[in-house]
Amino acid sequence: MAEQFVIHGGRPLRGAVAVPGSKNGSLYAVAAALLTSDEVTLHNVPAIADIAEMADICRALGVEVEMRTGTVSIRASEITSTEPPADKVLALRASFLVMGPLLGRMGEAKCPPPGGDVIGSRPLDVHLAGFRALGATIERDGANWAATSPRLRGARIFFDYPSVLGTVNVVLAATLAEGTTTIVNAAAEPEVAMVCRMLNEMGARITGLGSSTVSIEGVERLHGVDFEVDADRLVAGTYLLAGVATSGDVTITNALPQQLDSLIAKLEELGATVEAPASGGLRAAVEGPLRAVHLQAVPYPGFATDLHAPMAAVLTQAEGVSLIHERVYDNRTLYVSELRKMGGRITVGGPSVIIEGRTPLQGTLVRAIDIRAGAAVVLAGLVAEGETTVADIHHLDRGYAELCPALSALGADIERC
Ligand code: EPU
Repeated sequence: MAEQFVIHGGRPLRGAVAVPGSKNGSLYAVAAALLTSDEVTLHNVPAIADIAEMADICRALGVEVEMRTGTVSIRASEITSTEPPADKVLALRASFLVMGPLLGRMGEAKCPPPGGDVIGSRPLDVHLAGFRALGATIERDGANWAATSPRLRGARIFFDYPSVLGTVNVVLAATLAEGTTTIVNAAAEPEVAMVCRMLNEMGARITGLGSSTVSIEGVERLHGVDFEVDADRLVAGTYLLAGVATSGDVTITNALPQQLDSLIAKLEELGATVEAPASGGLRAAVEGPLRAVHLQAVPYPGFATDLHAPMAAVLTQAEGVSLIHERVYDNRTLYVSELRKMGGRITVGGPSVIIEGRTPLQGTLVRAIDIRAGAAVVLAGLVAEGETTVADIHHLDRGYAELCPALSALGADIERC
Protein backbone atom coordinates (compact mmCIF):
# COMPACT_ATOMS: atom_id res chain seq x y z
CA MET A 1 0.00 0.00 0.00
CA ALA A 2 1.20 3.53 -0.78
CA GLU A 3 2.61 5.41 2.18
CA GLN A 4 0.58 8.03 4.06
CA PHE A 5 1.10 10.60 6.76
CA VAL A 6 -0.89 10.06 9.95
CA ILE A 7 -1.19 13.17 12.10
CA HIS A 8 -2.68 13.62 15.56
CA GLY A 9 -3.37 17.33 15.73
CA GLY A 10 -3.77 19.90 18.46
CA ARG A 11 -0.16 20.35 19.58
CA PRO A 12 1.43 23.79 19.29
CA LEU A 13 4.68 23.54 17.32
CA ARG A 14 7.65 24.93 19.21
CA GLY A 15 11.39 24.93 18.58
CA ALA A 16 13.97 25.52 15.89
CA VAL A 17 14.74 23.65 12.67
CA ALA A 18 16.80 24.25 9.54
CA VAL A 19 15.24 23.76 6.11
CA PRO A 20 16.87 22.08 3.11
CA GLY A 21 18.12 23.91 0.04
CA SER A 22 15.66 25.35 -2.46
CA LYS A 23 13.93 22.81 -4.71
CA ASN A 24 13.40 25.26 -7.55
CA GLY A 25 16.81 26.90 -7.18
CA SER A 26 18.49 23.47 -7.32
CA LEU A 27 16.58 22.51 -10.48
CA TYR A 28 17.67 25.74 -12.20
CA ALA A 29 21.27 25.19 -11.04
CA VAL A 30 21.35 21.67 -12.53
CA ALA A 31 20.13 23.09 -15.87
CA ALA A 32 22.80 25.83 -15.70
CA ALA A 33 25.51 23.17 -15.31
CA LEU A 34 24.75 21.99 -18.87
CA LEU A 35 26.36 25.20 -20.16
CA THR A 36 29.91 24.15 -19.29
CA SER A 37 32.06 21.13 -20.05
CA ASP A 38 33.73 21.55 -16.62
CA GLU A 39 32.47 19.97 -13.42
CA VAL A 40 29.82 21.83 -11.43
CA THR A 41 29.25 20.81 -7.82
CA LEU A 42 26.11 21.92 -6.05
CA HIS A 43 25.80 21.78 -2.26
CA ASN A 44 22.71 21.96 -0.05
CA VAL A 45 20.55 20.23 -2.68
CA PRO A 46 17.37 18.72 -1.19
CA ALA A 47 16.81 14.96 -1.37
CA ILE A 48 13.58 15.09 -3.39
CA ALA A 49 12.16 13.21 -6.34
CA ASP A 50 12.28 16.19 -8.77
CA ILE A 51 16.07 16.49 -8.44
CA ALA A 52 16.51 12.78 -9.18
CA GLU A 53 14.25 13.17 -12.26
CA MET A 54 16.25 16.17 -13.47
CA ALA A 55 19.51 14.21 -12.95
CA ASP A 56 18.09 11.36 -15.08
CA ILE A 57 17.19 13.82 -17.85
CA CYS A 58 20.78 15.13 -17.85
CA ARG A 59 22.15 11.57 -17.95
CA ALA A 60 19.96 10.87 -21.00
CA LEU A 61 21.75 13.80 -22.71
CA GLY A 62 25.11 12.09 -22.12
CA VAL A 63 25.99 14.08 -19.00
CA GLU A 64 27.65 12.53 -15.93
CA VAL A 65 25.70 13.19 -12.75
CA GLU A 66 26.70 11.97 -9.32
CA MET A 67 24.39 12.41 -6.35
CA ARG A 68 25.49 12.14 -2.74
CA THR A 69 23.59 13.37 0.32
CA GLY A 70 23.08 17.08 -0.22
CA THR A 71 25.54 17.27 -3.11
CA VAL A 72 25.13 16.86 -6.85
CA SER A 73 28.11 16.88 -9.24
CA ILE A 74 27.43 17.41 -12.91
CA ARG A 75 29.98 17.05 -15.68
CA ALA A 76 28.63 17.89 -19.13
CA SER A 77 32.01 17.38 -20.88
CA GLU A 78 30.10 16.05 -23.85
CA ILE A 79 26.46 16.35 -24.74
CA THR A 80 25.50 13.36 -26.87
CA SER A 81 21.79 14.13 -27.35
CA THR A 82 19.76 17.32 -27.61
CA GLU A 83 16.44 15.50 -27.16
CA PRO A 84 15.50 14.67 -23.56
CA PRO A 85 13.30 11.56 -23.22
CA ALA A 86 9.59 12.47 -23.41
CA ASP A 87 8.50 10.33 -20.44
CA LYS A 88 11.02 12.11 -18.18
CA VAL A 89 10.05 15.54 -19.47
CA LEU A 90 6.45 14.79 -18.52
CA ALA A 91 7.48 14.11 -14.91
CA LEU A 92 8.25 17.73 -14.03
CA ARG A 93 7.82 21.24 -15.35
CA ALA A 94 11.46 22.25 -14.84
CA SER A 95 12.55 19.64 -17.41
CA PHE A 96 11.86 22.26 -20.13
CA LEU A 97 14.84 24.18 -18.73
CA VAL A 98 17.21 21.98 -20.72
CA MET A 99 16.03 23.86 -23.86
CA GLY A 100 17.90 27.10 -23.08
CA PRO A 101 21.33 25.57 -22.37
CA LEU A 102 21.09 23.05 -25.24
CA LEU A 103 20.15 25.79 -27.68
CA GLY A 104 22.87 28.10 -26.37
CA ARG A 105 25.63 25.50 -26.33
CA MET A 106 24.66 23.02 -29.08
CA GLY A 107 22.55 25.22 -31.38
CA GLU A 108 19.56 22.89 -31.18
CA ALA A 109 17.09 21.36 -28.75
CA LYS A 110 13.92 19.32 -29.05
CA CYS A 111 11.52 18.79 -26.20
CA PRO A 112 7.80 18.09 -25.71
CA PRO A 113 5.73 20.39 -23.49
CA PRO A 114 6.62 19.47 -19.89
CA GLY A 115 4.45 18.01 -17.12
CA GLY A 116 4.13 19.30 -13.56
CA ASP A 117 1.39 20.10 -11.08
CA VAL A 118 -2.16 20.59 -12.39
CA ILE A 119 -2.51 24.09 -10.98
CA GLY A 120 -3.67 25.91 -14.10
CA SER A 121 -2.85 26.44 -17.74
CA ARG A 122 0.89 26.56 -18.06
CA PRO A 123 1.79 27.85 -21.52
CA LEU A 124 5.33 28.21 -22.91
CA ASP A 125 4.85 31.32 -25.05
CA VAL A 126 7.25 33.42 -22.96
CA HIS A 127 10.05 30.83 -23.29
CA LEU A 128 9.50 30.39 -27.03
CA ALA A 129 9.15 34.12 -27.79
CA GLY A 130 12.42 34.67 -25.90
CA PHE A 131 14.26 32.03 -27.93
CA ARG A 132 12.83 33.49 -31.17
CA ALA A 133 13.98 36.99 -30.17
CA LEU A 134 17.49 35.56 -29.77
CA GLY A 135 17.32 34.39 -33.39
CA ALA A 136 16.25 30.77 -32.95
CA THR A 137 13.84 29.07 -35.33
CA ILE A 138 11.06 27.35 -33.41
CA GLU A 139 8.99 24.64 -35.04
CA ARG A 140 6.52 22.07 -33.89
CA ASP A 141 7.84 18.58 -34.73
CA GLY A 142 5.15 16.08 -33.80
CA ALA A 143 4.74 16.33 -30.04
CA ASN A 144 7.97 18.32 -29.68
CA TRP A 145 9.07 21.91 -29.75
CA ALA A 146 12.21 22.03 -31.90
CA ALA A 147 14.51 25.04 -31.58
CA THR A 148 17.53 25.63 -33.81
CA SER A 149 20.07 28.39 -34.26
CA PRO A 150 23.71 28.27 -35.34
CA ARG A 151 24.58 31.04 -32.83
CA LEU A 152 22.11 33.03 -30.79
CA ARG A 153 22.34 36.83 -30.92
CA GLY A 154 21.61 39.12 -27.99
CA ALA A 155 18.40 41.17 -28.17
CA ARG A 156 16.16 43.40 -26.08
CA ILE A 157 13.19 41.26 -25.11
CA PHE A 158 9.94 42.27 -23.42
CA PHE A 159 8.16 39.45 -21.58
CA ASP A 160 4.35 39.56 -21.72
CA TYR A 161 4.39 37.95 -18.27
CA PRO A 162 7.30 37.62 -15.80
CA SER A 163 7.40 33.82 -16.09
CA VAL A 164 9.89 32.28 -13.65
CA LEU A 165 11.02 29.32 -15.75
CA GLY A 166 10.70 31.49 -18.89
CA THR A 167 13.19 33.96 -17.42
CA VAL A 168 15.62 31.22 -16.38
CA ASN A 169 15.39 29.49 -19.79
CA VAL A 170 16.09 32.68 -21.74
CA VAL A 171 18.90 33.75 -19.37
CA LEU A 172 20.52 30.32 -19.80
CA ALA A 173 20.24 30.55 -23.61
CA ALA A 174 21.56 34.13 -23.70
CA THR A 175 24.62 33.42 -21.58
CA LEU A 176 26.61 32.04 -24.53
CA ALA A 177 24.95 34.27 -27.19
CA GLU A 178 26.78 36.87 -29.25
CA GLY A 179 26.17 40.35 -27.81
CA THR A 180 23.96 41.60 -25.02
CA THR A 181 20.44 40.48 -24.13
CA THR A 182 18.17 42.58 -21.95
CA ILE A 183 15.00 41.04 -20.57
CA VAL A 184 12.37 43.59 -19.57
CA ASN A 185 9.62 42.33 -17.22
CA ALA A 186 11.80 39.43 -16.07
CA ALA A 187 10.81 37.34 -13.03
CA ALA A 188 12.46 38.68 -9.88
CA GLU A 189 12.09 35.51 -7.76
CA PRO A 190 15.12 34.89 -5.50
CA GLU A 191 15.78 31.55 -7.19
CA VAL A 192 16.17 33.35 -10.54
CA ALA A 193 18.64 35.78 -8.95
CA MET A 194 20.42 32.82 -7.35
CA VAL A 195 21.02 31.01 -10.63
CA CYS A 196 22.26 34.30 -12.20
CA ARG A 197 24.70 34.62 -9.27
CA MET A 198 25.87 31.07 -9.92
CA LEU A 199 26.28 31.77 -13.66
CA ASN A 200 28.36 34.86 -12.85
CA GLU A 201 30.60 32.67 -10.68
CA MET A 202 30.96 30.44 -13.79
CA GLY A 203 32.14 33.42 -15.87
CA ALA A 204 28.84 34.85 -17.15
CA ARG A 205 28.22 38.61 -17.20
CA ILE A 206 24.73 39.18 -15.85
CA THR A 207 23.47 42.37 -14.20
CA GLY A 208 20.14 43.37 -12.68
CA LEU A 209 19.99 40.25 -10.50
CA GLY A 210 16.71 40.08 -8.58
CA SER A 211 15.19 42.98 -10.55
CA SER A 212 12.66 43.01 -13.37
CA THR A 213 15.30 44.06 -15.94
CA VAL A 214 18.10 41.55 -16.38
CA SER A 215 21.00 42.06 -18.81
CA ILE A 216 23.21 39.28 -20.04
CA GLU A 217 26.40 40.07 -21.94
CA GLY A 218 27.20 36.91 -23.88
CA VAL A 219 30.55 35.17 -23.24
CA GLU A 220 32.49 32.53 -25.24
CA ARG A 221 32.59 29.92 -22.50
CA LEU A 222 31.70 29.20 -18.91
CA HIS A 223 33.78 27.26 -16.40
CA GLY A 224 32.95 24.95 -13.49
CA VAL A 225 31.88 26.08 -10.02
CA ASP A 226 31.30 24.87 -6.48
CA PHE A 227 28.02 26.45 -5.46
CA GLU A 228 25.83 26.40 -2.35
CA VAL A 229 22.08 26.52 -2.97
CA ASP A 230 20.05 28.97 -0.79
CA ALA A 231 17.68 27.65 1.89
CA ASP A 232 14.19 26.94 0.52
CA ARG A 233 12.07 30.02 1.30
CA LEU A 234 8.85 28.12 0.52
CA VAL A 235 9.61 25.27 2.92
CA ALA A 236 10.68 27.85 5.52
CA GLY A 237 7.42 29.72 4.93
CA THR A 238 5.37 26.53 5.22
CA TYR A 239 6.92 25.60 8.60
CA LEU A 240 6.52 29.14 9.94
CA LEU A 241 2.86 28.97 8.91
CA ALA A 242 2.57 25.58 10.66
CA GLY A 243 3.81 27.23 13.85
CA VAL A 244 1.34 30.10 13.49
CA ALA A 245 -1.60 27.76 12.68
CA THR A 246 -1.00 25.86 15.92
CA SER A 247 -0.42 29.01 18.05
CA GLY A 248 3.19 27.94 18.47
CA ASP A 249 6.65 29.48 18.34
CA VAL A 250 8.84 28.30 15.45
CA THR A 251 12.31 29.41 14.36
CA ILE A 252 13.78 28.48 10.98
CA THR A 253 17.47 28.81 11.72
CA ASN A 254 18.63 29.24 8.10
CA ALA A 255 15.66 31.14 6.60
CA LEU A 256 16.66 34.23 4.60
CA PRO A 257 14.34 36.99 5.94
CA GLN A 258 15.10 39.30 2.99
CA GLN A 259 13.36 36.74 0.73
CA LEU A 260 10.25 36.55 2.92
CA ASP A 261 9.06 40.17 3.27
CA SER A 262 5.55 39.50 1.93
CA LEU A 263 5.04 36.54 4.27
CA ILE A 264 6.41 38.44 7.29
CA ALA A 265 3.98 41.32 6.63
CA LYS A 266 0.99 38.94 6.54
CA LEU A 267 2.14 36.99 9.62
CA GLU A 268 2.28 40.27 11.55
CA GLU A 269 -1.15 41.27 10.27
CA LEU A 270 -2.43 37.89 11.46
CA GLY A 271 -1.19 38.73 14.95
CA ALA A 272 2.10 36.82 15.07
CA THR A 273 5.30 38.31 16.46
CA VAL A 274 8.02 37.91 13.86
CA GLU A 275 11.71 38.50 14.49
CA ALA A 276 15.02 37.85 12.78
CA PRO A 277 17.27 36.56 15.60
CA ALA A 278 20.84 37.93 15.67
CA SER A 279 22.11 34.38 15.10
CA GLY A 280 20.25 34.29 11.75
CA GLY A 281 17.00 32.85 10.49
CA LEU A 282 13.44 33.86 11.26
CA ARG A 283 11.09 33.27 14.19
CA ALA A 284 7.30 33.58 14.33
CA ALA A 285 5.39 33.22 17.59
CA VAL A 286 1.70 33.51 18.41
CA GLU A 287 0.05 34.44 21.67
CA GLY A 288 -3.62 35.20 21.50
CA PRO A 289 -6.12 34.90 18.68
CA LEU A 290 -5.29 35.21 14.99
CA ARG A 291 -7.02 37.92 12.93
CA ALA A 292 -8.41 37.49 9.40
CA VAL A 293 -6.33 38.95 6.54
CA HIS A 294 -6.76 39.75 2.85
CA LEU A 295 -4.00 38.96 0.40
CA GLN A 296 -3.20 38.51 -3.27
CA ALA A 297 -0.89 35.80 -4.59
CA VAL A 298 1.25 37.54 -7.21
CA PRO A 299 4.79 37.33 -8.64
CA TYR A 300 7.73 38.12 -6.30
CA PRO A 301 8.18 40.23 -4.20
CA GLY A 302 4.43 39.84 -3.66
CA PHE A 303 2.90 37.01 -1.66
CA ALA A 304 4.02 33.68 -3.21
CA THR A 305 1.38 31.56 -4.95
CA ASP A 306 3.20 28.56 -3.46
CA LEU A 307 2.22 29.70 0.03
CA HIS A 308 -1.43 30.39 -0.91
CA ALA A 309 -2.75 26.93 0.06
CA PRO A 310 -0.74 26.61 3.33
CA MET A 311 -1.87 30.14 4.27
CA ALA A 312 -5.51 29.16 3.61
CA ALA A 313 -5.16 26.35 6.17
CA VAL A 314 -3.90 28.90 8.72
CA LEU A 315 -6.76 31.30 7.95
CA THR A 316 -9.34 28.68 8.98
CA GLN A 317 -8.00 29.48 12.47
CA ALA A 318 -8.23 33.29 12.22
CA GLU A 319 -11.19 35.25 13.62
CA GLY A 320 -13.25 36.81 10.83
CA VAL A 321 -13.48 36.56 7.06
CA SER A 322 -10.23 36.22 5.12
CA LEU A 323 -9.78 36.59 1.39
CA ILE A 324 -7.08 35.18 -0.89
CA HIS A 325 -7.08 36.39 -4.47
CA GLU A 326 -4.96 34.12 -6.69
CA ARG A 327 -3.42 36.02 -9.58
CA VAL A 328 -0.72 33.62 -10.78
CA TYR A 329 -2.49 30.32 -11.56
CA ASP A 330 -6.08 29.70 -12.65
CA ASN A 331 -6.45 26.36 -10.84
CA ARG A 332 -4.69 26.79 -7.50
CA THR A 333 -7.77 26.10 -5.37
CA LEU A 334 -8.13 22.31 -5.60
CA TYR A 335 -7.01 22.10 -1.95
CA VAL A 336 -10.29 23.73 -0.89
CA SER A 337 -12.31 20.49 -1.22
CA GLU A 338 -9.85 18.74 1.13
CA LEU A 339 -9.97 21.50 3.76
CA ARG A 340 -13.77 21.46 3.56
CA LYS A 341 -13.74 17.72 4.39
CA MET A 342 -12.03 18.72 7.63
CA GLY A 343 -14.66 21.36 8.45
CA GLY A 344 -13.14 24.44 6.78
CA ARG A 345 -15.76 27.03 5.82
CA ILE A 346 -14.34 28.08 2.47
CA THR A 347 -16.00 29.45 -0.65
CA VAL A 348 -14.37 29.74 -4.06
CA GLY A 349 -15.48 32.49 -6.44
CA GLY A 350 -13.38 32.49 -9.61
CA PRO A 351 -9.81 33.30 -8.58
CA SER A 352 -10.85 34.29 -5.03
CA VAL A 353 -11.11 32.14 -1.94
CA ILE A 354 -13.12 33.33 1.05
CA ILE A 355 -12.34 31.69 4.37
CA GLU A 356 -14.58 32.08 7.40
CA GLY A 357 -12.90 31.58 10.74
CA ARG A 358 -12.30 30.54 13.28
CA THR A 359 -13.50 26.97 12.53
CA PRO A 360 -12.58 23.89 14.52
CA LEU A 361 -11.14 21.29 12.12
CA GLN A 362 -11.72 17.53 12.42
CA GLY A 363 -9.20 14.88 11.37
CA THR A 364 -10.24 12.67 8.46
CA LEU A 365 -8.80 11.08 5.28
CA VAL A 366 -7.56 13.74 2.85
CA ARG A 367 -5.37 13.83 -0.25
CA ALA A 368 -2.25 15.79 -1.12
CA ILE A 369 -3.50 16.98 -4.53
CA ASP A 370 -0.27 18.78 -5.46
CA ILE A 371 2.85 19.86 -3.56
CA ARG A 372 1.40 22.96 -1.91
CA ALA A 373 -2.16 21.61 -1.60
CA GLY A 374 -0.47 18.73 0.26
CA ALA A 375 1.24 21.18 2.60
CA ALA A 376 -2.15 22.79 3.29
CA VAL A 377 -3.73 19.51 4.45
CA VAL A 378 -0.70 18.69 6.60
CA LEU A 379 -1.06 22.08 8.34
CA ALA A 380 -4.80 21.50 8.76
CA GLY A 381 -4.01 18.07 10.24
CA LEU A 382 -1.64 19.66 12.78
CA VAL A 383 -4.50 21.90 13.93
CA ALA A 384 -7.37 19.39 13.71
CA GLU A 385 -8.90 17.39 16.51
CA GLY A 386 -8.30 13.65 16.17
CA GLU A 387 -6.50 11.74 13.45
CA THR A 388 -5.80 13.04 9.94
CA THR A 389 -4.54 10.65 7.27
CA VAL A 390 -2.89 12.28 4.26
CA ALA A 391 -2.87 10.12 1.11
CA ASP A 392 -0.95 10.69 -2.16
CA ILE A 393 2.07 11.97 -0.27
CA HIS A 394 4.32 11.42 -3.31
CA HIS A 395 3.31 14.99 -4.21
CA LEU A 396 4.72 16.24 -0.90
CA ASP A 397 7.88 14.21 -1.47
CA ARG A 398 8.45 16.30 -4.61
CA GLY A 399 8.85 19.49 -2.60
CA TYR A 400 9.42 18.81 1.09
CA ALA A 401 12.47 16.69 1.93
CA GLU A 402 12.36 15.24 5.45
CA LEU A 403 8.96 16.77 6.25
CA CYS A 404 8.13 14.26 8.99
CA PRO A 405 11.42 14.59 10.93
CA ALA A 406 11.26 18.40 10.72
CA LEU A 407 7.70 18.66 12.00
CA SER A 408 8.34 15.98 14.66
CA ALA A 409 11.36 17.97 15.88
CA LEU A 410 8.97 20.89 16.39
CA GLY A 411 6.70 18.70 18.52
CA ALA A 412 4.16 17.50 15.94
CA ASP A 413 2.66 14.02 16.25
CA ILE A 414 3.17 12.94 12.63
CA GLU A 415 4.17 9.57 11.28
CA ARG A 416 4.85 8.17 7.83
CA CYS A 417 3.36 4.72 7.51
N1 EPU B 1 2.82 31.80 -18.12
C1 EPU B 1 2.56 32.33 -19.35
N2 EPU B 1 3.42 32.05 -20.37
C2 EPU B 1 4.52 31.28 -20.21
C3 EPU B 1 4.79 30.75 -18.94
C4 EPU B 1 3.92 31.03 -17.91
O1 EPU B 1 1.55 33.01 -19.53
O2 EPU B 1 5.25 31.07 -21.18
C5 EPU B 1 1.89 32.07 -17.01
C6 EPU B 1 1.26 30.79 -16.47
O3 EPU B 1 0.10 30.47 -17.19
C7 EPU B 1 0.97 31.13 -15.03
C8 EPU B 1 2.02 32.15 -14.70
O4 EPU B 1 2.63 32.55 -15.93
O5 EPU B 1 -0.29 31.74 -14.96
C9 EPU B 1 3.12 31.65 -13.77
O6 EPU B 1 3.93 30.77 -14.42
P1 EPU B 1 5.51 30.79 -14.30
O7 EPU B 1 6.05 30.47 -15.65
O8 EPU B 1 5.99 31.99 -13.62
O9 EPU B 1 5.69 29.54 -13.35
P2 EPU B 1 6.71 28.37 -13.59
O10 EPU B 1 7.98 29.01 -13.94
O11 EPU B 1 6.16 27.34 -14.49
C10 EPU B 1 7.70 28.27 -11.18
C11 EPU B 1 7.77 27.26 -10.09
C12 EPU B 1 6.40 27.09 -9.45
C13 EPU B 1 5.93 28.44 -8.94
C14 EPU B 1 5.94 29.47 -10.08
C15 EPU B 1 5.56 30.87 -9.64
C16 EPU B 1 9.45 25.66 -10.76
C17 EPU B 1 9.79 24.31 -11.22
N3 EPU B 1 8.18 25.96 -10.63
O12 EPU B 1 6.79 27.74 -12.15
O13 EPU B 1 6.58 26.22 -8.36
O14 EPU B 1 4.64 28.32 -8.42
O15 EPU B 1 7.24 29.52 -10.67
O16 EPU B 1 6.41 31.32 -8.66
O17 EPU B 1 10.34 26.44 -10.48
C18 EPU B 1 6.00 24.54 -6.83
O18 EPU B 1 7.16 24.62 -6.40
O19 EPU B 1 5.11 23.91 -6.24
C19 EPU B 1 5.65 25.25 -8.07
C20 EPU B 1 4.56 24.99 -8.77
